[in-house]
Amino acid sequence: EDYALGGHPDFLAKEIAEQPDALRRALAGRLDTRFATARLGGLGMDPRELRGVRRVLFLGCGSAYYAGEIGAGLVEQLARIPAAAEPAGEFRHRNPVVDPDCLYVAVSQSGETADTLAAVQELRRKGGRVIGAVNVIGSAISRECGAGVFLHSGPEVSVASTKAVTTMSVSFAMLAVLLGRVRDLSVADGRRLLDGLAALPRHVEAVLAEDAAHGTVAAVAQRWAHASSMFFVGRTRCSPVAREGAQKLKEVSYCHAEAYPASELKHGPLALVTPDMPSVVVVPDDELLAKNVGTIEQIRARGGPVIAVTDAELPAGLADAVLRVPRTEPELAPILLGIPLQLLARHAAVALGRDVDRPRNLAKSVTVE
Ligand code: AGP
Repeated sequence: EDYALGGHPDFLAKEIAEQPDALRRALAGRLDTRFATARLGGLGMDPRELRGVRRVLFLGCGSAYYAGEIGAGLVEQLARIPAAAEPAGEFRHRNPVVDPDCLYVAVSQSGETADTLAAVQELRRKGGRVIGAVNVIGSAISRECGAGVFLHSGPEVSVASTKAVTTMSVSFAMLAVLLGRVRDLSVADGRRLLDGLAALPRHVEAVLAEDAAHGTVAAVAQRWAHASSMFFVGRTRCSPVAREGAQKLKEVSYCHAEAYPASELKHGPLALVTPDMPSVVVVPDDELLAKNVGTIEQIRARGGPVIAVTDAELPAGLADAVLRVPRTEPELAPILLGIPLQLLARHAAVALGRDVDRPRNLAKSVTVE
C-alpha cells in the first residue's frame, strides 16, 4: 500500500501528526516578506481584480464549511470586506442571487463532493467568479473552477478531516492577507501575520509533542468521553472552531456534541448545564478574554465541568482542565486552537473503542446526493 500507517495506530493519528509538514507545504513559496503579502498565483487575479472584490462567500460541506467560516472571519478582519460561509448544499438549492462583485470560494478536500461541485456549476452558469480551495489536484471541483489555491496537505484517508481542514484555514489566512494588502492592511500588520503563519508549523508540533509526552489531551478524553453529551463553546472568530470541534467528536466517537457561540448560552443552552454535561470552551488570548472567562464562570456556577482550550494564561482553578497551545497572532489563533480538539475527538473515540478511521454511516467523500 503506498499510503501506509508508518508506525501510527490509525490513519487519523497519522494525519493529525502530519500537520506540521502539511502546513509547511501549504505555506511554501507563498509568504512574500518583501511586500508583506501572500503570493497565490493560482488565483490568476491581478491587484486591480483583487481590489474589485467587494464580498467573499466560502462554500463547502461539513468541515470544509466550518473552515470557510474561519476564512470568512479572517477576510473580514484583515481585508475589511464583508465575508461569510454557507453550506454548499444549501446554496445550490436556493436559487442564489449571484453577485458579480463577490469572490466565491469552493472549499473541498476531495474536490469531488457533489453539493460543492453543483454549487460551482450553478455559479458558473450564472456568471459568478469562483475559485477553488481544493486538496486533490485534477479533481472535479479543481477542474471546474480552473483557478484557486491547492492545499497541498497530502493524501487524507481517514474519514474525519484534520490536516486538510488546517491547511484550508491557513490558505484562507493567506488569501485574507492578500486581499488586505491591496486595501489598507499595513505593511507592519502584513509582516506580523506572515511571521505568525511561518511559526504555525512549529507551534502545531509543540501541541502534538506535549500530548505525546504527557498524555494531556488523552487524560481529558478518558475523564469525560463517557458523557452522553458535550457542549463546545466559542466566541466570534473561535465560534467555528467550536463547531468543528463538536463535529469531529460526534463523527469519530459518536458522543453527542453541540456547539454554541458563547453569547448564546444564556439564551437557552445553559438550561442543559449540569455536572454530567461537560463544556469545551475555546478561549483565545484576545480582546474578548475577560468575556470568555465570564462564560466559564457562568457554566461552572451551574455545576458544569469546563475544559478550556486556550493560548492565554488563565486564573488558577478557573477550569476543570486546561489544554494549552502556544501564543500566536490573535487572528491566527483559531487555526492553532483547533488542534487539541482533533486530539480530543480521536482520544475519545479510542477510549470508547470506536473504529476511528471508518466511522459508521459516513463516507470519505460524498459524491452522490
Ligand atoms: C470531515 O471530518 C467530514 N468527514 C466531512 O464533513 C467533510 O469535511 C465533508 O464531507 C466535505 O468533504 P470535502 O472536503 O472532501 O468536500
